[in-house]
Order: sequence, then C-alpha cells, then structure tokens
Amino acid sequence: MQRADALARFSELAGGVTRVYLSPEQRAANEAVLGWMREAGMRAGLDAVGNCVGRYEGERDDLPCLMIGSHLDTVRDAGRYDGILGVLAGIECVHALDAAGARLPFAIEVVGFADEEGVRFGTTFLGSKAVAGTFDPAALEATDREGMRLADAMRAFGLDPARIGEAARPRGSVLAYAELHIEQGPVLEAEGLPVGVVTAIAGATRYRLEIEGVAGHAGTVPMRLRRDALAAAAECALAVESRAAADPDVVATVGILEALPGAMNVIPGRARFTLDLRSPSDEKRAAAVRELLEEMKAICARRGVRLSATKLHDEPVAECAPWMQEAIAAAIDAEGLAVRRLPSGAGHDGMAMRALCDIGMLFVRCRAGVSHNPAESVSEDDVAVALRVWLRFIEGFAVPAQAA
Ligand code: GLV
Ligand code: MN
Ligand code: MN
Repeated sequence: MQRADALARFSELAGGVTRVYLSPEQRAANEAVLGWMREAGMRAGLDAVGNCVGRYEGERDDLPCLMIGSHLDTVRDAGRYDGILGVLAGIECVHALDAAGARLPFAIEVVGFADEEGVRFGTTFLGSKAVAGTFDPAALEATDREGMRLADAMRAFGLDPARIGEAARPRGSVLAYAELHIEQGPVLEAEGLPVGVVTAIAGATRYRLEIEGVAGHAGTVPMRLRRDALAAAAECALAVESRAAADPDVVATVGILEALPGAMNVIPGRARFTLDLRSPSDEKRAAAVRELLEEMKAICARRGVRLSATKLHDEPVAECAPWMQEAIAAAIDAEGLAVRRLPSGAGHDGMAMRALCDIGMLFVRCRAGVSHNPAESVSEDDVAVALRVWLRFIEGFAVPAQAA
C-alpha cells in the first residue's frame, strides 16, 4: 500500500495521478519498480517497448515462465490502484517466495506494462502487444496532443522503435498470463466478498471522430444558416448515449469532446470527439458500432457538416481459460472464501496477451466500484487476502496436460 502511495507521486498532475506512456513520470516510476523487483530477488530491466520486466528463475535457469502483470500507466486524474496493484502484488509474491528460498518448476516474470490505457497516443495495449508479438508498426505514426509521433517519443525516451520486435516472447516460453486487478465495479462489494475470479473481458471498440462544419461569427450568422460542428457532435454524443441505454449488454462513452477553434464568439468550425463502446457480446458490439456510425452520418448530413471516423481499437471478448479460472478458484476456496465468478467490463492487458498464451484474472473488491477516478480505493485487509490467494495460486500453478 505504501508503494502504491509512492508511485502515485510520480504524476504530471500536481495533487493527483496522471502518468502516461514515455513521460518523465513513467521513467521515475520504472526506476522505483525495477528497484523493488531486484529487492524481491528478480533480475529486472526495461524491455524494448519500455515495460518493466523482472524475472525470478525456477528450479533451473531458463524454464518457461508464469507471467504475472498489469500496467503502470494511468488515465488522467486516475486512482492509485488501477494496474499498479497487480504489478506490486506480483513483486510481493515473488518476494515471499524468495524469502522462503522457494524455487518452483517454472520461472516467474513480473511485468509492469508501459501503455495499457492508451491515453497519450490513443493506442491501447502497446506494452502487452509488444510482448505478445502483435505490436502493429502503424502505431508508431500515432501522435500525442502536442503532435509528437510515437516513434519520436520512444527515441527521446531512449528506446529504439526498430527493435520493438525484441520484446516479443516466443510461443511456449510463457506458460500463462495471470493478472490481479481491482474490480472497478460494484459486484464484489455488493456481495460482501474480497476477491473474485474473472470469466471473460468485454470486447471494446474505439473511434476518433471529427466533424467539419463552418466557423463563423457568433453575432452575425443566423441560426438557420449555421453549420456548427460542435452542435452536431453534441447530437452524436446523445445518440451514443441512447443507443447504449437501449441494450443492457452495451455501454458507450464519449470521453473527449473538443470544439475548434475554441473561442466564445466563434461558431465551432470543427469538433473532435471519441467513442468507446463495449459489450460482453461481439455481435452486439459490432451491431451497435455499425448502427451508431450510420446514425451519426445521418445527423451530420442533415446538419450539412462532414463526419470522418478513424478506428483506433477493436478487441473481441477475451475469455479467461477455464483451467486458469479453476486454478484461481481453487486458491480462493483454499483460503476459505466463497468463489464468485464475474466478467470484466474494463479492458486489461490479458486481451492482448491471449495471442501468446492462456490468461486468468483475480479481481479485488474496491470501494463503491469507483475507478478511473481519484477516489479509487481498496482496503488493506482485502489486499492482504488477495495476496494470500495469489501466492497460493502461484505456488500451486501447473499447466494441465490437456492445456499444454
Ligand atoms: C482500461 O482501463 C479500460 O478498460 O479502458
Ligand atoms: Mn484503467
Ligand atoms: Mn487497469
């Protein structure tokens, strides 16, 4: 818990937590995390995309590993546990093994992924995609809000974009990927349970949208002659809200809405906004995205403005492997707790890691289900329970013959 507090101080936002990919704050957080990994008995360093990676050898050197991870980047004005808790928990468990002199029939790698939230470049899962070997070089052309290209930001950080491939792990070298994460929802709290087993992660689609209207004088252009890009974007945002509200299996969010040129006395000639749409059903997600894009096009046509849409992210539902669910459930049960299985509405690095190996997740109760918010909170007692479950899961980990 003290380490989560310490990491929260590496923030570009004074008095809050904002730590984005390839920032000076991330560099400082990496140094702290790598130090803790070494203290816990791991060999540790940054990989080619900037992930913190610590390795604890098994009974022999160079055995395939169980990879335990989560992310070290945050959203803007974030809490201090989303992602962070999973990285710290991995380090803590290895520390316990090391202190007991325990070596397992597999290696353990703890990974702090560098870009899960995708806040800076609109690119989600860069860290885990690099490890899974699915990093798309097109992402290197993405720009941040200052117009800096990802490739240039990597170079400025001391990374070589041409070497990202070196972060990729060969198939078979990672036995499974396991992630502990706060629930970010209210289910465990409502049921009075400290932890739960994740069954699957909801699929997600993200778009960046831009509307081109006509800028004009706020005092002279009559209302019926306006082609206000922001008013059109606002109508689109309301369409997003009502389409999602019509289906309990769909959630959709417009998280950014920007008017340009952005002056009180100028009719907005351009508006930029984002769409984030998720569902536990890939069919429903695809249908909602298709219908919404059509509806937005119709709104813009009626208003005489032009819509362009760029897809940034499209990830199908990611199932947690049944054998991983069983192994995590067995560890919960062995701690004398009821086993609650639940899906994840939030996205996680496991979605990308699934291209490399089977995945599993343990959720930890958080207060009122609040996350992506500075009020995010988790109790010390729940973290203690989760660590006991997690260590038990790691100690008992074995790939069943039928999954190997
Ligand atoms: C990650 O936190 C996401 O689900 O957006
Ligand atoms: Mn998050
Ligand atoms: Mn997260």
